[in-house]
Amino acid sequence: MSSIIKIQGLTKQYGNTLAVDHLDLEVFEGEIFGLLGPNGAGKTSTIRMLTGQTTPTSGTARVANHDIIHESTKAKQQIGVIPDISNIYEEMSAWDNLIFAAQLYSVPKIEREKSAKELLELFGLYERRKDRAAGFSRGMKRRLTIAAALIHKPKLLFLDEPTSGLDVQSLRMIRNLIKELNDDGVTVFLTTHYIEEADQLCQRVAIINKGKIVTVDTPEKLKASMEKRQVIEVSFTASSGLEDKLRSLSCVNDVSMLGDKCRLQVDEASEAVPSLVDFARKNSLKIISINTLNPSLEEAFVKLTGLSPEVMKTEKEPVKRKRIENLD
Ligand SMILES: Nc1ncnc2c1ncn2[C@@H]1O[C@H](COP(=O)(O)OP(=O)(O)OP(=O)(O)O)[C@@H](O)[C@H]1O
Ligand SMILES: [Mg+2]
Repeated sequence: MSSIIKIQGLTKQYGNTLAVDHLDLEVFEGEIFGLLGPNGAGKTSTIRMLTGQTTPTSGTARVANHDIIHESTKAKQQIGVIPDISNIYEEMSAWDNLIFAAQLYSVPKIEREKSAKELLELFGLYERRKDRAAGFSRGMKRRLTIAAALIHKPKLLFLDEPTSGLDVQSLRMIRNLIKELNDDGVTVFLTTHYIEEADQLCQRVAIINKGKIVTVDTPEKLKASMEKRQVIEVSFTASSGLEDKLRSLSCVNDVSMLGDKCRLQVDEASEAVPSLVDFARKNSLKIISINTLNPSLEEAFVKLTGLSPEVMKTEKEPVKRKRIENLD
């Protein structure tokens, strides 16, 4: 496998904030690689350095075989970038946005219109090509942003939180498009704070927290590292007041309530099930349903970072975040 991104000691400091702290990573050609982390972990700062939008404080990286500091222009020609905040021109039509992007990337004139048409069709926007982007939904704008980043047929695509804040339908569509692009040979480097997105989409995942990589592996291996801990979901004929009682059982490590279901962390499900049957009998309850769940990437994430999965579900403010550009 040949590497398409190689990062060594990459560091970004803004004033007193160490946004990215000596990052080492390698991404291979043909992968969908995910950088998974909570708000402020350093995902955008990493993408901005790799795509030549900001200079590292120290360390370096090679992107598509070019040094990001000394050969930044050459590297940029090989990549497509979809930033976290849309960079399309709202006053221009979908068609003009693509043609403009093609001009920026010096796509030869005869290819511009052909590529624009193909991309608009692929992204389900061809019928709306003459409409101004300002009137598009969030999902349509995101699709147009991705289409514009593909106009020069890059072999490596950077996407910063591509599905953040989208409705379920747009989110599915964009995930499918990313998979299709990858099937066509495009390497994808994406950031996300959706654990299930990393699980479904990425062949390898790096978990980043406070600017540092916590671990890098395939979602399956990350989940396998959790195999010893099992989860049982059980519902009884009544649920009030059960949480503390269940927590006091010796076979139960932790309890959380999901509606009328009790989710139990146990070491060994086969030992816990008889205790739960006994528990129901003693409390004059009946078990309505009981399921053993496979470990999820979410649990691996919690174990590895010590963070609550809830921090990953926080939606970001739609307003532009203030950047202290002069420290950049
Ligand atoms: N231009 C900037 N000026 C000052 N501080 C910055 C700047 N950009 C990022 N930071 C700080 O660096 C840290 C990492 O930010 P970054 O945007 O890289 O995180 P992120 O993982 O992309 O977060 P999010 O999930 O919210 O997008 C944060 O503490 C942030 O406040
Ligand atoms: Mg970000």
